Amino acid sequence: MTDKPWRDVIAVNELETNWVTRVEVGRKTIAVYDTPNGIYASLALCTHAGADLCDGYFDDHVIECPLHQGAFDVRDGKPVAAPATRPLQVLEVRVRDGMVQIRV
Ligand code: FES
Repeated sequence: MTDKPWRDVIAVNELETNWVTRVEVGRKTIAVYDTPNGIYASLALCTHAGADLCDGYFDDHVIECPLHQGAFDVRDGKPVAAPATRPLQVLEVRVRDGMVQIRV
């Protein structure tokens, strides 16, 4: 748990359905993932070599990196396909009044 404040980042109805949406928050690029089971978010930088995961392929709850096809489970950030070995930094997400909020 963190004491960082919640911030509105995007309206729920602006998310790409069942896909990843890029959101800029300050100087950070955040990937927001719409899934059948909820909304998740992570830093957009791949932990392997820094590619932008918002340009990757998203399926259900796995984001595949566009550069070397490493993949991560967006629910907990775990790498699920090589060459990714370090977890993705996932962010706390909630929905309030139709807005996706994250702690950053
Ligand atoms: S930069 Fe993402 S797998 Fe290499």
